Amino acid sequence: MPELTELTEGTDTTGPEIPAAPVPFPQDRTCPYHPPTGYDPLRDGRALSRVTLFDGREVWLVTGHATARALLADSRLSSDRSRHDFPVPSPRFLAGRGRRVGLLGVDDPEHRAQRRTVVPSFTLKRATGMRPQIQRTVDGLLDAMIEKGPPADLVSAFALPVPSMVICGLLGVPYEDHEFFEEQSRTLLRGPTAADTAQARDRLEAYLGALVDRKAQQRTPGDGVLDDLVHHQLRDGTLDRAELVSMAVILLVAGHETTANMISLGTYTLLQHPDRLAELRTDPALLPAAVEELMRMLSIAEGLQRIALEDIEVAGVTIRAGDGVLFATSVINRDPAVYDDPDALDWHRSARHHVAFGFGIHQCLGQNLARAELEIALGSLFERLPGLRLAAPARDIPFKPGDTIQGMLELPVTW
Ligand code: HEM
Repeated sequence: MPELTELTEGTDTTGPEIPAAPVPFPQDRTCPYHPPTGYDPLRDGRALSRVTLFDGREVWLVTGHATARALLADSRLSSDRSRHDFPVPSPRFLAGRGRRVGLLGVDDPEHRAQRRTVVPSFTLKRATGMRPQIQRTVDGLLDAMIEKGPPADLVSAFALPVPSMVICGLLGVPYEDHEFFEEQSRTLLRGPTAADTAQARDRLEAYLGALVDRKAQQRTPGDGVLDDLVHHQLRDGTLDRAELVSMAVILLVAGHETTANMISLGTYTLLQHPDRLAELRTDPALLPAAVEELMRMLSIAEGLQRIALEDIEVAGVTIRAGDGVLFATSVINRDPAVYDDPDALDWHRSARHHVAFGFGIHQCLGQNLARAELEIALGSLFERLPGLRLAAPARDIPFKPGDTIQGMLELPVTW
């Protein structure tokens, strides 16, 4: 394997000059694995720009890598989604304002207290220990797909059930309920209206609240993360019920929707890069580097949101208290100051330091688990189905709009 190039931290080159007409944000991608072409004006080495949201509000959009990491680690930016002025990327997320969102939506010190309760369940060691179980899940789904025969929709037959089954096992949520919680999660992330989104959140909270109550009644706790939280942190008062339920919602939703999108979009991207795929098939030891490079290139969690609590001087501009600050991960992860030829899929570079899992205190709790799932899912998929190919013209395959987690809506494949 060629040596990975060591990455040198880039320094954003920015001038305070801001374009006259702010570009709208977010925009739909034109190719599912590249940033929207509408962001091209933002990709000129500037660290941050003004953009407009759907409601006409102007916010900062961070696009420079060094500035992004500095700001994501800055406690003067808040993630508190219950604030009435928290910036949201589309009308459907207005429903979240004023509501409690566990982990992702709280600041320190509350965040630290919540995160401490779940960190031991998401360590690298725990994820490594889960590999045999993930492999069994992946093998079972591939067996079923092969037995049924081509063609298949890879999203519903494989990309979604893999992380959904894995997170159910880890949390102690019954997989029999998957159709219900997958549908609510979909609506939460891209329902047609704010009312639909609010209703989906209510339903998920009611469902997980009832599950938490049932677990609290059990004399002998099960071995899921939620059982652990109920029998320890809830009992000793470290978490109250509402906090625990809001954390359960984020763990369940983030635990399956994100990885499912990476599996489907990762597969699509590899099929569109046959030379790369051939290399990966010849040398599966490249898988970890390939997964990291796909994370960087696909940047499926786009437009991370924050609000400034104080004035912040950064990269030649002043972010004012109350300003919305969003992070375009797809552009940050292609900052040419950090990644040579950033639009190319090349796992011989080091994709380290990408912000596809975020950065700072909210950096993805599930990243070790996600990496293990992606390595096993993509590795086994291409090994078991050497003839895997798209069953429809690539340009006709629908993918998700720009204001939610990026991925394929469906992925017709044959082999
Ligand atoms: C490839 C798949 C995944 C991607 C791309 C991803 C991406 C992210 C990103 C970007 C953040 C930071 C958001 C922010 O700063 O505003 C985040 C946070 C989080 N992720 Fe993931 N994630 C993935 C998989 C998972 C999995 C499998 C879990 C398992 C439960 C998970 C649970 C969480 C949680 C709980 C947080 C909030 C952490 C906190 O605020 O302390 N994610 N994720």
